[in-house]
Amino acid sequence: MNSSHPPQHSNPLDGLNQWDDFVGSRYRADRKPEEFRDYSRNTPPGVREFYRLNHTYQTREFVLRKKKEYIGTRRRSMTVWEALEYLNTLVDDSDPDTDLSQIEHNLQTAEAIRADGHPRWMILTGLIHDLGKILCLFGEPQWAVVGDTFPVGCAWSDKIVFHEFFRDNPDSQVPEYQTRLGVYEENIGLDNVDMSWGHDEYLYHIVKDRLPEPALYMIRYHSCYPIHREGAYDYLMNDHDREMFEWVRKFNPYDLYSKSHHRPDPVKLRPYYEDLINEYLPGKLDW
Ligand SMILES: [Fe+2]
Ligand SMILES: [Fe+2]
Repeated sequence: MNSSHPPQHSNPLDGLNQWDDFVGSRYRADRKPEEFRDYSRNTPPGVREFYRLNHTYQTREFVLRKKKEYIGTRRRSMTVWEALEYLNTLVDDSDPDTDLSQIEHNLQTAEAIRADGHPRWMILTGLIHDLGKILCLFGEPQWAVVGDTFPVGCAWSDKIVFHEFFRDNPDSQVPEYQTRLGVYEENIGLDNVDMSWGHDEYLYHIVKDRLPEPALYMIRYHSCYPIHREGAYDYLMNDHDREMFEWVRKFNPYDLYSKSHHRPDPVKLRPYYEDLINEYLPGKLDW
């Protein structure tokens, strides 16, 4: 396998939602502890292949290259609502009767947060948290847009799902990256740690000067299941990260479990959310 040329067009998932659904099933509220390690047996082949690609090609070099390509640069200028509509042009191949569109997932997450009486900035976070998935529309393969995220440049925690697929990652041949701390220092703080590239990190950089810090942690680390669900990598975190991860954990159930068959009506909800967007993120943003 030539890992210096990652497959740009290999998209084994039926759609980005298939990854979200897989995570949801892994962390089902009624899951028994012994079922967790068993996930790999009943994983659809497309999801397995997705993780194989993700774990093989998310190298430190790849992450640094994508950061250079996307952070502080602009492909499109769009308001938040325009970005939601743009994201919605991403069509999943999965069953249209049971699967939600991207805009519906974002609205359901936001509506569930709103129904529980959380602050307005957190409702907005629910609305926008997956907007980074527009990376797919910029030509990024699924494995560089979604997936459980993890630090690069240090040893991979065995708590990362499908850990075995890291064996073909070129970083496994770089001794400096294979120690517990790798290129980092003990408790260096996650802001100084490069995470695998995807929709979380991308969106964080777009909104980072305009939302309260807990919102930024929710956006930046909501796919970091190895940390917020499995407790890995504590030695890279500082006390401030630990405090902020309480918010990430508070957010996660809304992302995972707010799916319902009640489809939110974007036309009816739009005025409320336009107000909310204008409060924190008015006008066009650079995407
Ligand atoms: Fe997400
Ligand atoms: Fe989500």
